[in-house]
Amino acid sequence: MRYVSLNEVLYDALEQGYAVPQFNINGYIWLEAIMESVKELNLPVIIGVTDRNVERLGGYQFIKDLVDLLYDRYDVQTPVVLHLDHGQTIDNCKAAIDAGFSSVMYDGSHESFETNVQNSKAVVEYAHQHGVSVEGEIGGIGGIEDGMVGGIEFADPEESQALVEQAELDALAPALGSVHGEYQGAPDLQFATMKKIQDMLNIPLVLHGASGLSKEDIRKAISYGHVKINFNTELNIAWSRALQDVFVNHPSIYDPSTILPVAKLGIKTMIEKKYRLCNLIK
Ligand code: 13P
Repeated sequence: MRYVSLNEVLYDALEQGYAVPQFNINGYIWLEAIMESVKELNLPVIIGVTDRNVERLGGYQFIKDLVDLLYDRYDVQTPVVLHLDHGQTIDNCKAAIDAGFSSVMYDGSHESFETNVQNSKAVVEYAHQHGVSVEGEIGGIGGIEDGMVGGIEFADPEESQALVEQAELDALAPALGSVHGEYQGAPDLQFATMKKIQDMLNIPLVLHGASGLSKEDIRKAISYGHVKINFNTELNIAWSRALQDVFVNHPSIYDPSTILPVAKLGIKTMIEKKYRLCNLIK
């Protein structure tokens, strides 16, 4: 199998004090930018595909096959995790696994605690039979993602532990104040609860909503066990700013072979910046 599960990259990160970034894809150019960066920088990566975007991007199998083609085109030699982000249902997680994803997130944060445990457990049972890792979520990560708006609901340490133990999760995203999309006001992460959860659990933690967080917050979260860090919004902002710059400052340009590389470079520059934040480039 070309792709590895979270377990094969996150335990080294825990030992060595860095995080593996998840970069979400929103179209072909994101994928090209990620694969090119991974090859040039010789670093591991988690490619995130938000479940709500899957249909728009062509379906689970189409996405997996496209990632395969780019993996071969760039002759990638470093570990790559192909991960379903915010899997909405058990069936969707199974469909991603059947298509060849090496990791899935089941997001049961909108369900009751009991249903979250039950559904996460069903996903884990199926995933582990296929060597696929599972990330769960507890509490509610607030903000805007793909047009959906939600409020923050902080994770409870005892519930976090119960969910991980009962469902046998490989990684957990506890909602502790980070939000998807752009921050309105200063971010306020609950580091005391984060430390408590780290001390109670023996698995890697995941930081969602990392776009817009300071270096200090990110490094502190890494030291509290958050070794998978998700970036989506800032890659999209980099893409959009690069395009705006071309269209506003050079309105006569229309040749895609001139415009598209600028957008790709915008994304790649942001990717490199995030690798530095994650402590993977000194
Ligand atoms: P941002 O919106 O902060 O980039 O977060 C992305 C994320 O957490 C995807 O799951």
